[in-house]
Amino acid sequence: ISKEHKQIMEAHELLAKFYHHLLMNTTEGQEALDYLEKRGFSKEDLDAFQIGWSLPNWDFTVKFLQKRGFTLEWMEKAGLIIHKEEDGTYFDRFRGRIMFPLHDEKGKVVAFSGRSLHDEKPKYLNSPETPIFNKSRLLYNFHRARPSIRKQHHAVLFEGFADVIAAASAGVETGIATMGTSLTDAHIQQIRRVADQVIICFDGDSAGIQAAFRASNLLSDSGCEIKVALIPDKMDPDDYIRKYGAEKFRNNVIGTAMTLIAFKMEYYKQGKNLQDEGQKLHYIEEVVAEISKLKKAVERDYYLRQIAEQFSLSLDALKQQEKQLFFKER
Ligand code: UTP
Ligand code: MN
Ligand code: MN
Ligand code: MN
Ligand code: MN
Repeated sequence: ISKEHKQIMEAHELLAKFYHHLLMNTTEGQEALDYLEKRGFSKEDLDAFQIGWSLPNWDFTVKFLQKRGFTLEWMEKAGLIIHKEEDGTYFDRFRGRIMFPLHDEKGKVVAFSGRSLHDEKPKYLNSPETPIFNKSRLLYNFHRARPSIRKQHHAVLFEGFADVIAAASAGVETGIATMGTSLTDAHIQQIRRVADQVIICFDGDSAGIQAAFRASNLLSDSGCEIKVALIPDKMDPDDYIRKYGAEKFRNNVIGTAMTLIAFKMEYYKQGKNLQDEGQKLHYIEEVVAEISKLKKAVERDYYLRQIAEQFSLSLDALKQQEKQLFFKER
């Protein structure tokens, strides 16, 4: 690898350590530390995930890097500092933010995401695309979770960093997350190398449910077995864990994750009044279409019976419709 590449890697490692030190051991980091502890993150969590604090200065990082002989042009390429065209000087990208280091598969820091402490926008500021960081490939916490994922044969996919950290400290060590973007082929390939089952545990708001629907289709197309864990009352997994505790999260959320088809049967109910004849028929059509995609005949039979019973329909009629769809699919 090139000298530039090496320097960029080194700068990330060094800064991650220093930002972490600023958060944990300095008066400048105290307000951020208080905030994180109030949110329920323990010192152990902050150590394990190397959470840090960037000072609210314009040139702290610039000077830090300069003093250590880093080439500022390369540091700009690395997304750590920004070049001012007018006067040729540099300033820090991350100022006064809680720093989440982002690690690659080998556990090397390749980027940062900085969360605002108050309500500054954006809530999370991410490193740009750089020679060592591609947002659409990175899975947060993958390097730490991998041994547990292999052992337990499943990964739990979350929406946010905070959810991954809260889950890990609640005993769910198989958690990973995308960078708030939708799942890409690269993500899926990375997951598929170590897990054959994925439990999707997104935020309980409608955006989260929508995203879970998309992610579940993509993952199941890749041959992955899917379960979906729904969080009640539009909460995040993180909120849920703070409110109800680790055990309830493990048993009542992760432990009762729904099969893909059960999730879809819930999903298609959204926004429909099933007392209305037309909407009910529409719902049944959508669900039967999903059932027809199931690989196992026994499963298809099982869910068709469930629908028949639920809506007092003849199983024969449902089976006929399912068969038509079944042959159309294949
Ligand atoms: P959320 O808005 O659900 O954040 O975005 P969160 O994880 O619950 O964060 P807290 O609890 O408010 O601290 C989910 C993910 O989307 C990405 C981040 O990766 C975040 O973890 N995101 C969100 C961004 O990249 N930028 C943003 O401004 C917001
Ligand atoms: Mn396996
Ligand atoms: Mn969300
Ligand atoms: Mn949250
Ligand atoms: Mn969230």
